[in-house]
Amino acid sequence: MTVSRYQIHDPSAIPSPALLFYPELIRGNLSRMVEIAGGPERLRPHDKTHKTREILQIALQIGIRNHKVATIAEAEMAGKTGVADVFLAYPLVGPNCDRFARLVRTFPQTRFLACVDDPEATIRLEAALKAGPAVEVVVDLDVGQHRTGVFDLSRAVALYEQIARSPVLRCGGLHAYDGHNNHPDPEQRRRTVTEIVHRLEELTDALQRKGLPVPRIIAGGTPSFPFWAAATLPNLECSPGTCVLHDHGYQSKFPDLDMTIAAALLGRVVSRPMPERVTLDLGTKAVGSDPPLANRIALWDVPDHRIAGHYEEHLVLESPHADRFRLGQEVYGSPAHICSTVALYREALVVENGRVVDRWPILARDRQLTI
Ligand SMILES: Cc1ncc(COP(=O)(O)O)c(C=O)c1O
Repeated sequence: MTVSRYQIHDPSAIPSPALLFYPELIRGNLSRMVEIAGGPERLRPHDKTHKTREILQIALQIGIRNHKVATIAEAEMAGKTGVADVFLAYPLVGPNCDRFARLVRTFPQTRFLACVDDPEATIRLEAALKAGPAVEVVVDLDVGQHRTGVFDLSRAVALYEQIARSPVLRCGGLHAYDGHNNHPDPEQRRRTVTEIVHRLEELTDALQRKGLPVPRIIAGGTPSFPFWAAATLPNLECSPGTCVLHDHGYQSKFPDLDMTIAAALLGRVVSRPMPERVTLDLGTKAVGSDPPLANRIALWDVPDHRIAGHYEEHLVLESPHADRFRLGQEVYGSPAHICSTVALYREALVVENGRVVDRWPILARDRQLTI
């Protein structure tokens, strides 16, 4: 990876650590996603990656009307930005059912789809929605990750029938997120998608035989995206998220994905405590720390190094070339996980042609906007 594409010509007045967004590259990734999906109507990108109104606006300009989100704040941001169709792909429990109902009432021009995997939770959601307009509800399936969703197909049918019987809920389709489908070998990922497609066909047939509509099947993330895009399921919508910004984690594990890293981090050398050690200001409060330590961030054009420690505000490197680093020296890189990294920043600096031209708030980082 060469750093020149991401460098700021004169970073001397820019405090670090900083999150950098590159709109041209973001636009390129979104356009490529439309191309792979076979049209914007077959795409429902997950906005949890960027949580940013301005990126939603770029997606809308490209014609991507349908979006997926994980939090009510992201859903509210989408409603405020004028997104037509927003799927909240997260189980709603407790007061979030009432917040969801408020969201539906506050943004009548946006269709909000809810997600359920449990009969009791569906009753609670139904109670919250009673006073408002009918809402489409998508049944979340456990297709192998075992995180959320209904695993057993007969239970999925029963839940779908429960939705169909409700006076305020409407059958919204099926959700199949395959977060476990992350084998480095693309053939393995293709095979897993094919297996899930067979289960989805079986379930869809069962529902349709009962006269129940399946208006959409929302499936997949970034690693499986090209294989879902090639599937011939009717009403399929692909829901990758990470590849809008992309990151070093996915780029190194899935080189078959033709996406470009469109966000970077700017850090600086703050100390050289020992002959072979260099410390940067890219601590765990600046770099998503859910990936394993050794691979947490790729630093571009930084000579031969390994990560020796990661603290709240410090990233400690070990390098035989530590003497080549000077204090205050700028360093650029890509985190292994851009989604958890973005959520650490209040704003991103927008870089065009080597200059910071704008600042975009990471608006939905705040879990409670107004609703
Ligand atoms: C439900 C759901 N859908 C889609 C995605 C997007 O996947 P990716 O980050 O691989 O693009 C995620 C990621 O966490 C997810 O949880």
